[in-house]
Amino acid sequence: MEGVPPVSTPESPMESPENAARCPFLLSTWSFGQRANEAAWPALAAGGSSIDAVEAVSVFCEDDPEIDSVGYGGLPDRDGAMSLDGCVMLSPEQCGSVCAIRRHRHPVSIARQVMDHTPHIMLAGEGADAFADAHDHPVEELLSPGAREAWEKRQRELPEQSRASSPRPVDVDPRGQLFAHGDDESRWSNNHDTIGVLAIDERGTLAGACSTSGMPWKVPGRVGDSPIIGHGLYVDPEGGAAVATGTGELVMAICGSFLAVELMRGGAMPGDAIREVLERIAKRSDLEPGHQIAVIALRPDGHWGSGALRPGFRLATSDAGGHQLLKPELVLLPGT
Ligand code: GLY
Repeated sequence: MEGVPPVSTPESPMESPENAARCPFLLSTWSFGQRANEAAWPALAAGGSSIDAVEAVSVFCEDDPEIDSVGYGGLPDRDGAMSLDGCVMLSPEQCGSVCAIRRHRHPVSIARQVMDHTPHIMLAGEGADAFADAHDHPVEELLSPGAREAWEKRQRELPEQSRASSPRPVDVDPRGQLFAHGDDESRWSNNHDTIGVLAIDERGTLAGACSTSGMPWKVPGRVGDSPIIGHGLYVDPEGGAAVATGTGELVMAICGSFLAVELMRGGAMPGDAIREVLERIAKRSDLEPGHQIAVIALRPDGHWGSGALRPGFRLATSDAGGHQLLKPELVLLPGT
């Protein structure tokens, strides 16, 4: 409906209808969310909790070196160093977050332990890594050989590159590489994307998580929307759950996930809430061609929706009927 070109993935994604999910249900961002959903689904289908499911989806992506925007495999900062962000949420009273993790591969699992074992919501930097050490997370290399190679290549070629004109990420690579497509070097860009996952279990409990390596080539120290409650992720049992992916600064400027959930709390369907979030972002006068935002949302009654600012976003769903890769129901700026 929005003029998205055919994709080269083996399966042809369908338009996603806004409908009511059968519990349990998993909803994840990007095509790489599909294989993570498939890995997490059996436990959720067997009566597992939504919080375990969203953690499992995140951990799967964090471990996959092919995914160049999350965990091991993610692209580093300007200086070639990795830092990871993530959060998890059940409700305003139960949420946890970590940012600027440099020695541990699983920010969502660490965030869950912040939620479960501290009176705090967010730990940052060396303190967060020290907390992970204390909770027996192994120290692991975060920079994959592929990401190191990409950074070194960029260092060599930077003078010839025009970063401002780099295109948005387009989800056509089934391996999960949003930033490099074949030999098209122009895909290496300032764009970046997150695994965002929402779940509702058979007891009707909502949960959400998101995890990212942040913007490729970011200024060291930069943190985006993903680990910040209400920006990259928000879950309220009375309103619903929403996750955002894309250019974090745009989401942070409007508290995007909180806004979507608050609109649903007021009665909006997920698709209408997402449209409002995207329209507020699209009104910015400084929107660049490379900016992309996508949002997925799930209400406590099981209605769910998805939308993106520009073409190229995909989402993955899992329920008792199987696993699907879908296009969003809304693309606000088609043809861009
Ligand atoms: N949305 C991920 C980030 O901006 O870091």
